[in-house]
Amino acid sequence: MAHIFVTGGAGFIGGNFVLDWFATQGAHADGIVNIDKLTYAGNLKTLTPLESDPRHVFSRTDICDRDALDTLFAQYKPRAVVHFAAESHVDRSIHGPAEFIQTNIVGTFTLLEAARAYWNTLDDGDKAAFRFLHVSTDEVFGSLSETDPQFSETTAYAPNSPYSASKAASDHLVRAYHHTYGMPVLTTNCSNNYGPYHFPEKLIPLVIANALGGKPLPIYGDGKNVRDWLYVGDHCAAIREVLARGCLGETYNVGGWNEKTNLEVVHTLCDLLDDMRPKATGSYRDQITFVKDRPGHDRRYAIDARKLERELGWKPAETFETGLRKTVQWYLDNQAWVQDVMSGEYRNWVSKQYAA
Ligand code: NAD
Ligand code: DAU
Repeated sequence: MAHIFVTGGAGFIGGNFVLDWFATQGAHADGIVNIDKLTYAGNLKTLTPLESDPRHVFSRTDICDRDALDTLFAQYKPRAVVHFAAESHVDRSIHGPAEFIQTNIVGTFTLLEAARAYWNTLDDGDKAAFRFLHVSTDEVFGSLSETDPQFSETTAYAPNSPYSASKAASDHLVRAYHHTYGMPVLTTNCSNNYGPYHFPEKLIPLVIANALGGKPLPIYGDGKNVRDWLYVGDHCAAIREVLARGCLGETYNVGGWNEKTNLEVVHTLCDLLDDMRPKATGSYRDQITFVKDRPGHDRRYAIDARKLERELGWKPAETFETGLRKTVQWYLDNQAWVQDVMSGEYRNWVSKQYAA
C-alpha cells in the first residue's frame, strides 16, 4: 500500500486531516503514517475511529529525532509528507519560547533533512512525484490595520510573536530546500481554524468550555482584535487540493473570508449556546469578562485566498454561521473528549495564564 506521512496528526488540524482523508479519499486512499510526539496538544482519542483501520499507522515520534525519522522513511517509503507538527499556541510561546524554536525550527529542519536524504534515494519518477507540504500560518505576515488590504502570497513577512517568528523561520527553510536542492515543496499559510477536536486553550473551544462550566469568558484587551475564521474541514480540503495539484515551490494562502472581532465571535457563541443549551436564568453573555491584553497582540489578520480559488478551484464550503453551529453541537455531544483533555497539564496552564 502507498503511504503518506502526516506529522502532528494527533493534534487539532492534523487529526481532522487524518479523519477526513479516509472519509473523502474512498476505498483506494493511500495509508497514513501518523508521526506525533503526543505533547499536551496531541490526543489519541481524536483518532479512536481509526483504531482498527490497518490503513492508519501511529508512531509516537519526535520530529527532532533524525534516526527515528530515517527508520520510518526507509520502512514506509512515503510518496508525500504533510507537515502539521508544531507548537501552536501564541500565549504559550510568550511564556516559554524554547519549545517553539525546538519543534518549529529545529524539528522542521530535521524533517526536511530526513525527507531530502530519502528523496535522493528515489528513482526519477518517484522523485518527481514526491511532495513535502508544509502547513503554516497567516501570522507570519504580522498585523494589519483596519484599512490595510488582506495578506496575499507576496505580502512581506513580519512575524511578531515567538510562535509566528518560529513558523516564519520554518517557512524560509522549506523555501530554501526547494530553491537550493530542488525539493518538491508546497507551503500553505492559513488563517484561524475552528471546529471539532480543537484544544480548549484557544479562543473558541475555551469560550465554549468555560461557558458550559459557568466560568468567566476572558476577552483580551478591548475585544476588537480581528481574526479571519475558517472551518477546519475547509482547511483540510484546501490542503488536499494543494497536495494533489499545487505548483511546486509555490505558497498558497487559505482563509475563510470571515473577518470577525473577538467580541463578535464570543457574542455569537453565547447566542448559539443560549439557543442550543439555555441556562436556567440569564444569558451566557453575562459571563464575558475583559482581562489583561496579550503582549504584542496582533490587531488584525485577514487572508486574500483568491490564488487558491483561481488556480485550484478551492472555496470554503462552510459559512461562519454554519461552521460555528456545527462546532458548538460537536462540543455539546463530545463532553467526554473535552473533559479528558482538560485534566492535569491543562489546569496548570489555565492557572498560569489567567491568574490575574
Ligand atoms: P495543535 O497544537 O493542536 O497540534 C500540534 C500537534 O503536533 C500535536 O498533536 C502535538 O503532539 C504535535 N507535536 C508537537 N511537537 C511535536 C514534535 N516535536 N514532534 C512530533 N509531533 C509534535 O496544532 P494545530 O492547531 O492543529 O496546528 C497544526 C499546524 O497548523 C501547525 O503547524 C500550525 O502552525 C498550523 N496552523 C494552525 C492554525 C490554527 O488556527 N490552529 C492556523 C493556521 C496554521
Ligand atoms: O491565524 C492563525 C493562528 O490562529 C494559528 O497560526 C495559531 O496556531 C492559532 O493558535 C491561532 O492563533 P491566535 O492567537 O489568533 O488564536 P487564539 O485562539 O489563541 O486567539 C484568537 C484571538 O482571541 C486572539 O486575538 C486572542 C484572543 N483571545 C484568546 C484567548 C485564548 C482572547 O481574547 N481570550 C483568550 O482567552
